[in-house]
Amino acid sequence: MTVFDTTLRDGEQTPGISFTFAQKLEIARQLTSIGVYAIEAGFPASSEGERETVKAIADQRLDAVICGLARSRKEDVDVCIDCDVDMVHVFIPTSEVQRVHTIKKTPEEVLDITREIVSYVRDHCELCMFSAMDATRTDTEYLIEVFRAAADAGATIINVPDTVGVYTPTAMKNLITRIVSEVNCPVDVHCHNDFGLAVANTTTAVEAGASQVQVTVNGLGERAGNADISQTVMILESIYGVKTGIKTASLYETSRLISRYSGIGVLPIQPVVGDNAFSHESGIHSHGVIACAATFEPGIMTPEMVGHRRRLTLGKHVGRHAVRQMLTDAHINPSEIEIDRIVEKVKFMSVKGKKVTDADLYEIATTIMGIGNGGRAIELQDIAIMTGNHVIPTASVKALVNGKELVCSSTGNGPVDAALKAILGIVPAKVQLKEFNIEAISGGSDAIGHVNIAIEDDHGHVFSASGSGDDIVLASTEAMINAINLLQRIRQAETK
Ligand code: KIV
Ligand code: ZN
Repeated sequence: MTVFDTTLRDGEQTPGISFTFAQKLEIARQLTSIGVYAIEAGFPASSEGERETVKAIADQRLDAVICGLARSRKEDVDVCIDCDVDMVHVFIPTSEVQRVHTIKKTPEEVLDITREIVSYVRDHCELCMFSAMDATRTDTEYLIEVFRAAADAGATIINVPDTVGVYTPTAMKNLITRIVSEVNCPVDVHCHNDFGLAVANTTTAVEAGASQVQVTVNGLGERAGNADISQTVMILESIYGVKTGIKTASLYETSRLISRYSGIGVLPIQPVVGDNAFSHESGIHSHGVIACAATFEPGIMTPEMVGHRRRLTLGKHVGRHAVRQMLTDAHINPSEIEIDRIVEKVKFMSVKGKKVTDADLYEIATTIMGIGNGGRAIELQDIAIMTGNHVIPTASVKALVNGKELVCSSTGNGPVDAALKAILGIVPAKVQLKEFNIEAISGGSDAIGHVNIAIEDDHGHVFSASGSGDDIVLASTEAMINAINLLQRIRQAETK
């Protein structure tokens, strides 16, 4: 089973997304590094910029098959060949509605074009994928005739697109079973998500004999998008036991990379890679998970398998076991009575609508236990930010770090990025920013900004903290310093 990724083509067809040239090269490298078999780098005939990108990706000589998309026209194929791709993907509409209203061709003409274009591709390129566009709304007898024509003309793989996402898993199973038994060519599927069935249809196609799946990172694509790589791969690997060749432990980081570049966030409840995918808040769940993770997780898919992490979160459903575990991990050991009071306070704050971070929990616990919070390793003294439309955002910070005055300046993608990088420049511990969320508490331009962040140290421990204020740079800085102080406090406790 192989994975064919179309993030670079379908991702760009997602309304509002356009990756930069450098981002496209990095995405191609990332997809290769996680074991994607083939990457559709773009549609070179569509623009000069697209042609340059596809050529640049092909020139990287990556360890993945690089494919260019082409309409069933020789001039489109020629542009792909000029880009030095390893594979040309030609498509032609086959359903009546698309044939009549888009290319205005008869069924016989489509058959002739199919034979001609596939053999033209094979005369110039080793690998040819042929797609019957809108296959799932095409008369099945005719569809099989078209696929046979493509296979006889030399297609190395045929693709069955559910172009407008109208198929069901049962229909997909029947169709793929027929195609696999009646057409002598490997079969690939490309499913759209208009009814939310893209992943189910894709994995069912594999069950029925498809040997390749088309997916995108985070399910990007036109309208409701395409089958998501993380969900498709994990269903195949963990439920069906099918090897996909994907390094699943890199799925989370790949999802976040594309989310950053596309500007489309990952929903917290998104399967596999969403923030909540392995988070447990309610008392019963976290109690179970502390005893044995498989109680309230699939077990056949762990956070480690997808490069994610398990988290106990603090909210109105939190239980004593989770709170005790989180505090014990930080070397804080409250009595039974103290635990009750801490849990009560966390629930009270959550019910009032406050997101309770790790830093808040330790503050609550140390106050209730009367043990002091261990002091602050970092105290910000000064911060200066320079930003504008013609300057690179730059931040300079001066802070007392363990009693010593340190200064650091950094540039960044924006003032917040520059400020956080400057702070990280003076921190003794090696930490990485893992999460950053900002919310405006009221609607106006003078709204109070509330920043929640999570940082990870070099041992994989994650610390969350928050900051708020009417200046989002200062609120972000406060959140970062609170998180670092928490980390330092826990490190000190560990060495005692
Ligand atoms: O959805 C579709 O039919 C396509 C084809 C180009 C394969 O994207
Ligand atoms: Zn498509």
